[in-house]
Amino acid sequence: MLEVRDLQSYYGDAHVIHGVSLNVAAGEVVALLGRNGMGKTTIIRSIMGLTPPHVRSGSVRWKGQDLLGLRPHDIAARKIAIVPQGRRLFPSLTVTEHLTMLKSARATEGWTMEKVFGLFPRLAERRHHRGGQLSGGERGMLAVGRALMIDPELILMDEPSEGLAPVMVQHLEDIVLSLKKEGLSILLVEQNLYSALAVADRVYVLDTGRIVSEGVGKEISENPEQLLEHLGVH
Ligand SMILES: Nc1ncnc2c1ncn2[C@@H]1O[C@H](COP(=O)(O)OP(=O)(O)OP(=O)(O)O)[C@@H](O)[C@H]1O
Ligand SMILES: [Mg+2]
Repeated sequence: MLEVRDLQSYYGDAHVIHGVSLNVAAGEVVALLGRNGMGKTTIIRSIMGLTPPHVRSGSVRWKGQDLLGLRPHDIAARKIAIVPQGRRLFPSLTVTEHLTMLKSARATEGWTMEKVFGLFPRLAERRHHRGGQLSGGERGMLAVGRALMIDPELILMDEPSEGLAPVMVQHLEDIVLSLKKEGLSILLVEQNLYSALAVADRVYVLDTGRIVSEGVGKEISENPEQLLEHLGVH
C-alpha cells in the first residue's frame, strides 16, 4: 500500500536520507529502527509531506498514487495519520478538544471520541484535563487517539513509547496489536529492537540515512545479533 522508492531528503544542503526504499502492505506492522539521528523522523516527515526536510528525488506512493508534493492535510485526507515524535499536543487544550479538532464530537462514523475512549478508558477519565496536565503515558494515548480520529488506514508512529515506563510501553504494544487486528497498517519508528519485535511483522534498520538491514520479525527474534550490532547494542 505504501511504497517508498529511493528517497533522497535534505535539510538545506545537508543530505540526510540517501536512497531509502521501504514498503508497508495492507494490515502490516512494519518497524523502522535506528539509533539517534539516523534519519527516522526525516523519513516519516518526508512521507507525510511535512517540511523541512525537502525531498529532492525518489517517490512515495500510496495505493499507486504519488504523494510527493501534496500538503500534509491532503495526505491526511488520503487516510494517513501521524503520531509525531514528542506527541505535539496543545498544553492548554483538553483531551476532548484534541480529539474533536478534526472531527465533530457528534460524529457517528468510523472512529468517534467514544470509540477512542473505549480503547483508552484512562483518557475518558481525563477528558476535561488539559494537554499540559497529562502524564507521559496519557499523552502517548492522546496522540494515538487523535491520529485515529481521521479514520486512518495507515498510521506513522514516531517513537510513541519514547520516555515511557515499561508498563506503558507494553500497553502501547497491546494497542498497536489491537489496531492491527482492526486492519490498520502501521509504520512504527522505534529505537528498541525488542519492543519492535513484540509487534512488527517486518523491520528495517536505518544507519545514517540508509537501510542497512531488513527482515521478518520472527526470523530476527531467533537471530538478532546482526541487527543489534547496527543498533549499537551489544
Ligand atoms: N530541522 C533540521 N535541520 C537540520 N538538520 C536536521 C533537522 N532535523 C534533523 N536534522 C538532522 O538530520 C539527521 C537525522 O535526524 P532525524 O531527526 O531524522 O533522526 P532520528 O533517527 O529521528 O533521531 P531520534 O531517534 O533522535 O529522533 C540528524 O543528523 C539531524 O541532526
Ligand atoms: Mg526522530
